[in-house]
Amino acid sequence: MSVVALEQNINAFDVERVREDFPALHQDVSGHSLVYLDNGASTQKPQSVIDAVQNFYAHDYSNVHRGIHTLSQRATDHFEAARSKVRQFINAGSDAEIIFTSGTTAAINLVAHSFARMGLQAGDEIIISAIEHHSNIVPWQLLEQEIGIKLRIIPINQQGELLFDEYLKLLNDRTRLVAVTQLSNALGTITPLKEIITAAHDIGAKVLVDGAQAVAHATVDVQELDCDFYAFSGHKLFSPTGIGILYGKHELLDAMPPYQSGGEMIKEVSFSGSTFNELPHKFEAGTPNIAGAIGLGAGIDYIQSLGLEAIRQHEQDVLDYATEQMLFIDGLRIIGTAAQKASILSFELNGAHASDLGTLLDHQGVAVRVGHHCAMPVMEFFGVSATTRASLAMYNSKTDIDRLVAAVQRAADMLN
Ligand code: ALA
Repeated sequence: MSVVALEQNINAFDVERVREDFPALHQDVSGHSLVYLDNGASTQKPQSVIDAVQNFYAHDYSNVHRGIHTLSQRATDHFEAARSKVRQFINAGSDAEIIFTSGTTAAINLVAHSFARMGLQAGDEIIISAIEHHSNIVPWQLLEQEIGIKLRIIPINQQGELLFDEYLKLLNDRTRLVAVTQLSNALGTITPLKEIITAAHDIGAKVLVDGAQAVAHATVDVQELDCDFYAFSGHKLFSPTGIGILYGKHELLDAMPPYQSGGEMIKEVSFSGSTFNELPHKFEAGTPNIAGAIGLGAGIDYIQSLGLEAIRQHEQDVLDYATEQMLFIDGLRIIGTAAQKASILSFELNGAHASDLGTLLDHQGVAVRVGHHCAMPVMEFFGVSATTRASLAMYNSKTDIDRLVAAVQRAADMLN
């Protein structure tokens, strides 16, 4: 074997080996071995994440930043070590730029309430795209009602790709923020983030990236992207629910007023007034999800042990295979056919109800999500009320796709 072939062999992504690390994948559902293809909603957890959370509760549990006693110091050390892992994972400049939240939704709401609600005025404009999740639509609509900002929408084409020239036309001297997804949860479209960010910065606007779907599928480098804010969740990253991250550039976070108030976010409190803690604690009122953060640190360790570039290549290979195989099914239409796509395969079948199809798939052990995927404007654009969505993670194999295709074919035969 040549050196190159040997290296490729060493670096090959061993999906069967990866699957062994996820206990939940090894069970029967409806009398069939489980095929889990609902990773866009939430991913399964490797044993190392389960162990990290369990060990914390069993041995080191205490509140953080509050006690002189040993357990509190241990808990604080683990919690802050998790923050450093997140910083390194997305290549932020400092730990102070990493805010723990309960998830992507909470992170976007933090920006909406602190950066936008306090800093924007009537007539200021925020740009989002037509493929956003409701979490990156509704917070801005509330600001439209509350303070009279204007929300503008980047349109898409029939493939589900953003119309970049239309985006450029929306930018103007009233644009304050561009809030855009990196990877559409309903279609799988990868957006041209770098170009979007550069154009926004050229006119002095800030950019918030919804990275909820993207972060488990490709390397994210916030400094290279030069985004101002980046939001993601732990539960889509093989880590616990109830933990998420808001990254923000230090100078922006520093200038922003607190969002929620209470313990931990203060420096001093008296009845004549209060002063606020330094970053990142200024934005972390109340006891945080300590075990969730520690679990997220373990999830990041796990992903990094495999390598995101190897994960990306493996998933692309499986997605290409899935796309090709699904098109053999009569009457199946893939919704979302962008040239740059990852991890998501949304489809409809001969007008069959997505919920009927999802139920028939579940009866064959195949877990998918059906519905509008919290992206109703996307459904409206494509003229459907719902789709069936298979969403991939690194532990999915071509064998899973063969099971999906066979199950959809069987369901199609039953529904026709
Ligand atoms: N946002 C998650 C999804 O797309 C729940 O399924």
